[in-house]
Amino acid sequence: KDESRLAGALLVWYDRHHRDLPWRISPPMAKKGVKPDPYHIWLSEVMLQQTTVQAVKPYFQKFLARWPKVTDLAAAPSEDVMAAWAGLGYYARARNLKKCAEAVATEHGGVFPDSEEGLRALPGIGDYTAAAVAAIAFNRQAAVMDGNVERVISRLYAIADPLPGSKPQMKAKVAALTPADRPGDFAQAMMDLGATICTPKRPACSLCPFRDDCLALSAHDPELFPVKAAK
Ligand code: ADE
Repeated sequence: KDESRLAGALLVWYDRHHRDLPWRISPPMAKKGVKPDPYHIWLSEVMLQQTTVQAVKPYFQKFLARWPKVTDLAAAPSEDVMAAWAGLGYYARARNLKKCAEAVATEHGGVFPDSEEGLRALPGIGDYTAAAVAAIAFNRQAAVMDGNVERVISRLYAIADPLPGSKPQMKAKVAALTPADRPGDFAQAMMDLGATICTPKRPACSLCPFRDDCLALSAHDPELFPVKAAK
C-alpha cells in the first residue's frame, strides 16, 4: 500500500536524521526498551505550542529539575509556576498547565490517561496536545497535526484548498498515513521533516524521503503550499 510505503520511508529517514531533544526518546534508546515519561511529553508539548524548540529547552530542564513529577507540579504554588514560566509567553498556557497537573494528581492518582479521549478531557488539553501525547507517550495511532505537519501534507498531496478550511482534509490524510507500528516516531518524524527539510522557504527537497511522491515538487513549486485564504 502507498501509505505504508510512505510511512516506512519517513521512519527510515527519522532513524538517521531525528533531532536529539531533551524530552525525546530517540530510536536507539527506544530499541533498548526505554519508554517516554508521559509527564515529560505533555510538558514539552504544552511548552512547544507557539514557542521554538531552542527557546523551550532550558525551560523544560528547569521545570523538571524543580518539579520532577506531575504531582510535584500540582502541589507547587501557582506564583512559583507562573514565575518559572516567565519569558515563554502566552501565560494562559501556564495557568492551564497547573490546572491540568492538579487534575492528573487528584482525579487520576498522578497517572496520565493513556488515550486521546481521556487526555482530551483534561483541562487545557486540546486536540493537538491530546493526539501528540497519545502518540508519543503511549504509542497510540493518533493523527498529530501542527503547522509543520500541515506544510508537509499540503505539499505531498498538493492540497489546493486554502487553510484553515483544508484542515479536516489534511487531518484525514495524516490519519491515513499514520502507521500502526511506531505511530509516535511517525508523528515526531513529520514534525522534524517540516522543521528541517520541508521548510516554508527553500525546502531541501533533494533530501526528502517523500521526494518521489510529492505532488507539489512534481508541479515545480512546493513554496506555493500550504495555500492560505485570501485576506
Ligand atoms: N514541535 C512540537 N512538538 C514537537 C515534537 N514532539 N518534536 C519535534 N518538534 C515538535
